[in-house]
Amino acid sequence: MRVLSGIQPTGEFHVGNYFGAMKQYVDLQDDDNEGYYFIANYHALTTIQDADELRRLTADVAMNFLAFGIDPERSVLFRQSDVPQVTELTWLLSCITPMGLLERCHAYKDKVSQGLSADHGLFAYPVLMAADILIYDSNLVPVGQDQKQHVEVTRDLAIRFNQTFGETLVVPEPYILRNVAVVPGVDGRKMSKSYDNMIPVFATDKAIKKRVMGIVTDSTPVQEPKDPDECNVYALYRLFATEDQAQDMAERYRAGGMGYGEAKKELLQMMLDYFADARRRKQELIENPSYVEDVLQAGAAKAREKAAQVLHRCRAACGY
Ligand code: ADP
Ligand code: TRP
Repeated sequence: MRVLSGIQPTGEFHVGNYFGAMKQYVDLQDDDNEGYYFIANYHALTTIQDADELRRLTADVAMNFLAFGIDPERSVLFRQSDVPQVTELTWLLSCITPMGLLERCHAYKDKVSQGLSADHGLFAYPVLMAADILIYDSNLVPVGQDQKQHVEVTRDLAIRFNQTFGETLVVPEPYILRNVAVVPGVDGRKMSKSYDNMIPVFATDKAIKKRVMGIVTDSTPVQEPKDPDECNVYALYRLFATEDQAQDMAERYRAGGMGYGEAKKELLQMMLDYFADARRRKQELIENPSYVEDVLQAGAAKAREKAAQVLHRCRAACGY
């Protein structure tokens, strides 16, 4: 199976990105799968329009993939922009993409419904994403719930292309990430860089501590019993804990006598332990940018080779 996914370089990596995306990519790396993982820096141009910032964020995402254990010996890791063939396929797909399909896509629809003006890049975003997926004959696309619609669009476009030009493209399947529905942020809403409620993974211990200690809780006094299922601290704790640890913590909530401050301190420690290896590796990578660049160049060469084959097939099918 070819497994493919991309992450946009648009902000600081947070706990929601880890459980919602990165963790599954690493878990899916095994002998039966061929992983293609990339930094969606063409997509990011719809929001990041500062060259230095885009470069910095792109390198950061590359290091995050490596820090969490995407292994360049087993997976192909590359920058989207190192495979320019993907923009050509975007055009071929555009010519069979109904306007209505894109008008229903949420990124564009949300922006317009907020009264903001959208540009063509944002409108066409799902077509570029379809090209990302289809140009490597991908079979499985692990994504969070919020990206499922885009994979459905990709399937629609692949089927339509095949009907129009003859059997050419592999129709991929979405792989919706396990039972991690939505990781809550410090205020209980979905953790997101847009809400200023995120817990960063690669910030200093002090910055992470500040975020964790600031998680919003109710005002139940220390001695009173508490409901773990209503608590943001517990919701996050569960993600890091083993089944036994989670049960133990839930019992302590229900028994009373434990304050939220204590639960937060335990969550913080658990989080720091959990991410210790990745944080150490990230630091090593920051100190070794030429290694990261070599990995990306090697990944791009492999990705381009596959992309060129599929694009050749598509061009021929269209009459070029
Ligand atoms: P953000 O919401 O911070 O802008 P992105 O939209 O860039 O995050 O998401 C990148 C990836 O991380 C996506 O695959 C998305 O599904 C996942 N993700 C982001 N936030 C969460 C969350 N709170 N819970 C689960 N997954 C998330
Ligand atoms: N749109 C995805 C996101 O915002 C990133 C992305 C771009 C992607 N191309 C992709 C994900 C192809 C999976 C497959 O998270």
